[in-house]
Amino acid sequence: MQMTAYAPGRVELLGNHTDYNEGVVLSAAIDRGITITGEASGGSLISLQSADREVTIDLANGLPEPLATNTWANYLLGVVRGLLEAGYPVAGFSAKISSTLPTGAGLSSSAALEVATCLFSEKLFGFSLSPLDRAKLCKRAENVFVGVNCGLLDQVSSVFGAENAAIFLDCRAETVANVGFPDGFELLITDSSVKHELTGGEYNERRAQCFEAAKVLGVKALRDTTSEAVLAAPLDDVVRRRALHVTGEIERVFRGVELLRTGNGAGFGELMWASHESSRVNFENSTEELDALVEIAHQIPGVYGSRLTGGGFGGATVSLIDAGKADAISSEIQKRYVEKVGIECKTYLSRLSQGAR
Ligand code: GLA
Repeated sequence: MQMTAYAPGRVELLGNHTDYNEGVVLSAAIDRGITITGEASGGSLISLQSADREVTIDLANGLPEPLATNTWANYLLGVVRGLLEAGYPVAGFSAKISSTLPTGAGLSSSAALEVATCLFSEKLFGFSLSPLDRAKLCKRAENVFVGVNCGLLDQVSSVFGAENAAIFLDCRAETVANVGFPDGFELLITDSSVKHELTGGEYNERRAQCFEAAKVLGVKALRDTTSEAVLAAPLDDVVRRRALHVTGEIERVFRGVELLRTGNGAGFGELMWASHESSRVNFENSTEELDALVEIAHQIPGVYGSRLTGGGFGGATVSLIDAGKADAISSEIQKRYVEKVGIECKTYLSRLSQGAR
């Protein structure tokens, strides 16, 4: 019998690089994602087909190992391996993968692929994980099978999205809550057209610097300290700026949740500008192109806030805009971006959407 599973991408709204520091983060599932459709093959073969590529592996040869070519399939195979290791009855299947999510834009196409694979396997082979366990298994697959030490943000966002609501994730308590999004505002995503690649090593380097700061500060994680304490501590300049970004972001997330709850979109937007500035100056995970997009957004009426979204080092920005003005704002951003940077950008108006299903 044919089964279909769908998992969305996400935007991070505030709380950049806080997840692996046991902090808090605000995100939303977007209205683009990845669909997997297929059926059990009755044997041990797993055949995967995406738009223009195909991969077949045989479970009879043992647990899946990471592929050196066709690395896109590793996000799926890592989840299959994780499920098998946890004792779930996954067997051979054939599946087609299709996507409405741009890859390399920092909108978590990888997490969407992992979560869709997990849900697809659950439905196909008749077992079920709790939503949080699903997110955690997918994160682990990315950590151990793909080799990116990401936190839980992307997978939780893909699993826990809700219509018109942001997702508030506490990475220490591992709790997730939906926070209603204020009326009259919309999210506009702008892809800088410069690919974001987390396998580049910068991500893991930033992570190590955060852990170093926590060690010098004598705390378990940067979650346990404040920007004030970071400023007063005997830290190396670079490490201090990395830590300040994280503590500042955690503080902004707590304020941001209150602002969303009271319907204060304009106040929330202010925090988004501050977040980007901290990425640019402290965490240095922005790029010239992302900075240009945020500067341009700042000059356009109807934009309340804008920041890079996700890991950084390329990818996209997310802007909070007046509802109903997306067309005018998008064409203005596109025009000024070509003038300023010399390349084109793509914009996507996105609803805050339901999670994987
Ligand atoms: C990437 C990672 C997430 C998170 C963000 C930055 O999206 O996959 O776990 O660390 O970067 O906030």
